[in-house]
Amino acid sequence: MLRTLLSFTSSAPALTLPVHPLLVLSPPPNAATMFALPSKKPKKSSNKNKNKKNKNNKNNKTHKRNKQQHNKQSSSHSNKRKQHHGTETDHGTTKSGGTASSALRKKQRRNKSTSLSDQFSSKLKGAQFRWLNEQLYTTAGSASFEMFQKEPELFDTYHAGFREQASGWNVNPLDIIIEKLQQLPPGQIVADFGCGEAKLAQTLQEVHTVHSFDLVAGNKFITACDIAHVPLADASVDQAVFCLALMGPNYVDFLIEAWRVLKSKGTLRIAEVESRFIRDSIASNLDSGLAAFTATLAQLGFKRTHCDCSNNFFVLFEFEKVKEISSSSSSSSSSSSSSSSSPSSTATGAAKRKLQQLKRGELFQLKACRYKKR
Ligand SMILES: C[S@@+](CC[C@H](N)C(=O)[O-])C[C@H]1O[C@@H](n2cnc3c(N)ncnc32)[C@H](O)[C@@H]1O
Repeated sequence: MLRTLLSFTSSAPALTLPVHPLLVLSPPPNAATMFALPSKKPKKSSNKNKNKKNKNNKNNKTHKRNKQQHNKQSSSHSNKRKQHHGTETDHGTTKSGGTASSALRKKQRRNKSTSLSDQFSSKLKGAQFRWLNEQLYTTAGSASFEMFQKEPELFDTYHAGFREQASGWNVNPLDIIIEKLQQLPPGQIVADFGCGEAKLAQTLQEVHTVHSFDLVAGNKFITACDIAHVPLADASVDQAVFCLALMGPNYVDFLIEAWRVLKSKGTLRIAEVESRFIRDSIASNLDSGLAAFTATLAQLGFKRTHCDCSNNFFVLFEFEKVKEISSSSSSSSSSSSSSSSSPSSTATGAAKRKLQQLKRGELFQLKACRYKKR
């Protein structure tokens, strides 16, 4: 998959971006030719001119020494530049006694080429991030997990891009969630689904017990898994958090899993990008989108207790786990994904079967979130 990604990222932008003349590679200049003094045939001289010639020779020697010294400096500069930028070419020959303005021009040219290559590499990284983001929104969680487990470096690529995006936001919804959790009595058991770099756990580790789940264990706080199946016992957590993490077309499976691990009356906190709720056919505006999403969560056993749309970009929800989904249909032999036979896992099996019975159209499908080029 990474190979696909790399071939995508290395071919597409490289072919489409115009190549700046300063980035065109050409053979390194031959220092001997570049810096050699012009060879002149000695002219026959008369006695009359001898004194003048001697005087000139003296001047020439000084001039030559200066020139050689200057060339030495230029050569070492040029070498340094080559080490820094690969094969960068400077076609101009250095004239002795180069003025401050020509040095400035050179410096500007060098800076320009550096910033162009920086821009180029940042565009590549941006393209990689957007491609991965698209994959995560269009691929089922289990397939995303497989892809990231095979190529764990994708996690860093994704999060470098995500950090870049988030740095431009007025407010990060994760900070709002952290603040809310900070206000709760200490000792809460929190599950952070799709935790990213586990900022929540790192911030609150002294106050609460935080379990952080993501596709790759990018640091010591994270447990790698598909968040449709987290390694937590039924009814074991007080707070379940999804901050921009309802990615994947099967996001309902993530919520069913949150329902399983939450204690009765436990809180589900969701932050999502507002535009994800505005769909053409089902919800033509934000209000109807939020209502449809809330209705889907009600079917999953959650009651909406709070919805904050005050930020124009994100919506923050709080839901309460309100009901144990009836286990009346669980006596049948249909498959439950839970391995234990405790009452609540039986109920989870029933919830899953109930969802399978629901018509696809009854469940609200969140729109994918596409980040803009920065
Ligand atoms: C947009 S990031 C948000 C990260 C973090 N919650 C935050 O707000 O900074 C979404 C995260 O969800 C993770 N994710 C998406 N689908 C997942 C899945 N099926 N299982 C585990 N993690 C998933 C992604 O890897 C990514 O780190």
